Amino acid sequence: MHTPTIGQMVAQDYRVAGVFRRYGIDFCCRGGRTLADVCAEKGLDLADVEQALSELQKEPAPRQLNAQDWKADFLADYIEQRHHTYVRKMLPEISAYAEKVAKVHGKHHPETLEIWKYWQALAAELASHLLKEERMLFPYIRQLANASASEAPAPPFGTVQNPVRMMEMEHENAGEMMRTIRTLSHDFSPPQDACMTYRVLYQLLEAFEADLHEHVHLENNILFGKAIALEDSIERV
Ligand SMILES: [Fe+2]
Ligand SMILES: [Fe+2]
Repeated sequence: MHTPTIGQMVAQDYRVAGVFRRYGIDFCCRGGRTLADVCAEKGLDLADVEQALSELQKEPAPRQLNAQDWKADFLADYIEQRHHTYVRKMLPEISAYAEKVAKVHGKHHPETLEIWKYWQALAAELASHLLKEERMLFPYIRQLANASASEAPAPPFGTVQNPVRMMEMEHENAGEMMRTIRTLSHDFSPPQDACMTYRVLYQLLEAFEADLHEHVHLENNILFGKAIALEDSIERV
């Protein structure tokens, strides 16, 4: 039987993402690997992770989004409405907290200065990334989803695989910066003496990371595959 990749496993049941997160398994940017490979690479006990996954089956699956069954244009709309809107709302909000915490606590907690630096880089990167998706890739995916063979649009970028590869690389970069922030913040655990602003910053960063994982997962593991399949199915005239 064909072994699913970790990205496919999450696409089938999003609760799997929670287990992967617990074990530090990156299912969104690096979702093309099998669980056995990831465990071997990270020195994790495969049986242990499989046990945690089988625990999930004891509870009925909650009603969840079946993004795999959605049409690509609907999924692109959903990602924009839910995740892009969220990112745009949170970038200035988290920036304000991160700056304040760095200025007030940077002396005693120098990692907050680093977090502020990485956050600024991540925010700038994401702002331009969203625009590329919204202005270039997603409109083309919507066209593909609604095109008949005879009116298939000619893409301005050769094949959809080119922007897809570029977006995947940018996801990888953003994921790396987010991981660095997680490490610098000791997994988002504020020190004993942290004030409220400090605590709120870490809570917001953790929530932002979870949303980013889901967002990138929907794109890398579901939307992009649909776009490539659509393009392949269209015979150009
Ligand atoms: Fe996106
Ligand atoms: Fe993206």
